[in-house]
Amino acid sequence: MLKNPATKYRPFPPIDLPNRQWPSRVRTHAPIWCSVDLRDGNQALAVPMNVSQKLELFQTLVKCGFKEIEVGFPSASNTEFTFNRRLIEENRAPDDVWLQVLVQAREDLIERTFESLVGAKRAIIHMYNSTSPAQRRVVFGKSKDEIKDVAVQGAKMIKDRLSRLKGTEVMLQYSPESFSATEVEFAKEISEAVMEVWQPTPERKMILNLPDTVEVAMPNIYADQIEWICRNIKNRDSLIISLHTHNDRGTGTAATELGLLAGADRVEGTLFGNGERTGNLDIVQVAMNHYMHGIDPKLDFADMNSLIDVYERCTGMTVPARQPYAGELVFTAFSGSHQDAIKKGLAEWQKGAQQHWDVPYLTIDPADINREYREVIRVNSQSGKGGVAYLLESEFGIELPKEMQREFGPIANELVDRLGREVSGAELKEMFEKEYTKRESPWSFTGFDHRKDGPETTCNARIAHDKNPPAPFVGKGNGPLSAFVHALRQHPNAPHFEVADYREHALGAGVNAQAIAYVQIKINGKTRWGAGMDTNIDLACVRAVLSALNRA
Ligand code: KIV
Ligand code: ZN
Repeated sequence: MLKNPATKYRPFPPIDLPNRQWPSRVRTHAPIWCSVDLRDGNQALAVPMNVSQKLELFQTLVKCGFKEIEVGFPSASNTEFTFNRRLIEENRAPDDVWLQVLVQAREDLIERTFESLVGAKRAIIHMYNSTSPAQRRVVFGKSKDEIKDVAVQGAKMIKDRLSRLKGTEVMLQYSPESFSATEVEFAKEISEAVMEVWQPTPERKMILNLPDTVEVAMPNIYADQIEWICRNIKNRDSLIISLHTHNDRGTGTAATELGLLAGADRVEGTLFGNGERTGNLDIVQVAMNHYMHGIDPKLDFADMNSLIDVYERCTGMTVPARQPYAGELVFTAFSGSHQDAIKKGLAEWQKGAQQHWDVPYLTIDPADINREYREVIRVNSQSGKGGVAYLLESEFGIELPKEMQREFGPIANELVDRLGREVSGAELKEMFEKEYTKRESPWSFTGFDHRKDGPETTCNARIAHDKNPPAPFVGKGNGPLSAFVHALRQHPNAPHFEVADYREHALGAGVNAQAIAYVQIKINGKTRWGAGMDTNIDLACVRAVLSALNRA
């Protein structure tokens, strides 16, 4: 890299926009959405989609609620043309969905585009030509006036052919491609020249799409450009101002959101941001950003996982694990303190204490897009006791007492650390069982029964220590637990210990449901927890006492 990049690169000049309004505006409603997955997204794939993949993705976009879908560039290839024909001839587009087609301002291409649209119910004809100084100079070698003439001639060719699309409701769209790198005055001039030909009215608007073809500036500059056009272009009320951002500087979403504040009505983008280079705007992100502020986005991503499946199958792309809202890890917390906060936040939410979602670290309720709370917390060596406890409770109903969490958390972390990877809930349960409920030596028992005589409980227990055969012991107490402890103390090898804490709960419902008991003992000045599971709660309790002793 250069020591002084200023010798090669220059800053983007600011837009002269006194008293700009967009910084203090607030979003209140969803924009009009247009998916360009099947055109801009598709043209950026190493292997473009075939007709059946495009059909599957088209149906999915319709299901998400898109009412405007750019289906391709029908004059560019037979696949594109055939796809458009199949959509129309097989009546695959619902009546309220507009099929948008892209075309350059060239007569042969416009001809073919019109052929591809015959019989469509609703069509948007999207014409573009590139307008930035670099494009004018390097690609076309044309002056501003000559570039404007390309647009005007193209607009006329389209207008002249409109009568061929009888029975089709047509909307016209113009894009000064590379708008964000074009002088705003020239962008206005060329757009107004196209308007002059198409003569839009407030009742019959045209779409003026202002692309950030390559992101060349910070998103506030794009917002200024949009507000400048909205304020200065003639007949603003005859226009639908549309945004089309790419992500070269990583701010496609920001540029779109600020562009909306600046007065735009419509947004073009793709699912998960597929598109040339760093991609197009990720439309899911902007829609979900509206949703997380309580605005109905008018797009439905309720089944995010199925949407990802279709997208990945059709495009061959993958959704990165950290992709906002969609990535596999976005509702996963690895850090213990995050896990603890989420656990508390979810508990508060489930109690209904808050009207609005305010769970730390989770921007939305994962369940809204068919993700499960179970996915929120996984355990690795960085997880705290909160994460471990949450997983045992949410997946297996094991509600470790707080103090026991403090004991088992570090044990689990050490085991996970040794494995050097994340563990599943099942693996964590196995660790728990090995540490507590399956500890059967040196103390074990082969029989336990008890009866109640008034306030006193008497038990008969067959207790074994080490390799010695089990022997019978009788104990008395105010319940089965204390009677068993008393019996155990009769054993000649029994250490001195006391029961410090005891909890129990069912693990499920029904007569055959298991119960789990947790017992904390004090032994040699230390405390130890034990746990036992059984269909009989008294036996679970006896097992928990022996588990604690076996861990001492
Ligand atoms: O990025 C772009 O400028 C485009 C235009 C054709 C709208 O895709
Ligand atoms: Zn584009």
